[in-house]
Amino acid sequence: MAEVTIKASEDGPFLVKGPVKVVDADGAEYDMGDRPVLELCRCGGSATKPFCDGTHRLIGFGAPEAAPRPAVRPPP
Ligand code: FES
Repeated sequence: MAEVTIKASEDGPFLVKGPVKVVDADGAEYDMGDRPVLELCRCGGSATKPFCDGTHRLIGFGAPEAAPRPAVRPPP
């Protein structure tokens, strides 16, 4: 199974790599084409949510501090 990673970019969107589906509240899937990376808005300002449209740069979005370090869990 391919791995999915989600990385918080500095003062910008979440960068999602890997085989994921994005589904709206009604259950409809977005056509992601062959995009190797998705950019999901985390500033709240995008007009194309859940995707980033670059508005974070216009509004001067500053991401909060880094999340606490995750606990390392052993594989199941
Ligand atoms: S993170 Fe880019 S528009 Fe919100």
